[in-house]
Amino acid sequence: MIQPARAIGWASHLPDEVVTNDDLERTLDTTDAWIRERTGISERRVGGHPPSMAVTAACEAMAVAGCEASTLDLILVATSTTDQHLPAAASRVHDALGANCGAFDINAACSGFVYALVTAYGFLATGMKRVLVVGSDAMSRIVDWQDRGTAILFGDGAGALVLEAGGDGGLVTYDMGTDSASRHILYCDVGSKLQMEGREVFKVAVRSVVDSIQRALKAAEMDAGDIDVFVPHQANYRIVEAVCSRLGIPCEKSVNTLAHTGNTSAGSIPVAIAHALERGRIHDGDTVLLAGFGAGMSWGSAIVRWSA
Ligand code: UT7
Repeated sequence: MIQPARAIGWASHLPDEVVTNDDLERTLDTTDAWIRERTGISERRVGGHPPSMAVTAACEAMAVAGCEASTLDLILVATSTTDQHLPAAASRVHDALGANCGAFDINAACSGFVYALVTAYGFLATGMKRVLVVGSDAMSRIVDWQDRGTAILFGDGAGALVLEAGGDGGLVTYDMGTDSASRHILYCDVGSKLQMEGREVFKVAVRSVVDSIQRALKAAEMDAGDIDVFVPHQANYRIVEAVCSRLGIPCEKSVNTLAHTGNTSAGSIPVAIAHALERGRIHDGDTVLLAGFGAGMSWGSAIVRWSA
């Protein structure tokens, strides 16, 4: 165990406005059947504002934790779609909560939440007691709604987790990496729209996530059979299936919110964690595997022994 910690609060938030595949059929050369078959997505939420979604998820997670904001030692927000160059979205979460700790953002695109979570455990290892970790992205702001190669995939959402040092569970191990030579296959210039070579991203995603999880399992002296719950980045259900099949993890162990959320970037994994917890799919003592990937091309895996 690298760092013992309990998850004492969690929450997710999705904006109200729903865009279904049928809606997209009316504006794009695509079909509901194609989108569901090639991605597993049926609908996504749009109209989100990353700092506001982060605030809502953070406030609810703090209410579940039942602790005062003054007891937080750090606020981390993973986002790549926030609306100001500065200050950080974390500053708005800090203000809304009335916290008096440090607060900053992390941008590792869709891998952002895993990176922020590992960073949080790192700060707990240096003596902090409580850290709030949030992932929040509004991909609807940077997607070109005329581009069927990307518009079908993305959505908006946020999730938050409050970690407290101590307990029987915590971070068992992690792996992070970046293939920076491939950064041109998925990017968004400031003030412009997201550009993606979908097929290439798909290949890099499967390869990098499988390799990363294998490294994390090896470092933990575990094998795929030790994983109780797999929380993958929600990008395309075919990616989840390919990763599960290559690693020998039954797909039933994976948590999937994708059908109703699309890819919410840094929001995706914490939304899926909250979804799984609310449905009793994660129990104390479970070995939970988290794996994210995205622009960079970045990837990150974390193996967590769950303790609430
Ligand atoms: O966080 C990381 C974010 N990104 C990802 O994870 C994206 C990873 N990539 C993907 O999910 C998939 O590559 C896509 C869903 C983007 C595309 O699926 P694909 O199975 O790789 O399709 P493709 O690009 O190989 O295209 C197959 C066919 C093409 O037609 P032809 O050339 O065979 O006639 C495309 O023009 O499907 C066509 N196509 C579509 N047809 C209907 C591409 N997009 C669409 C569409 N609706 N939306």
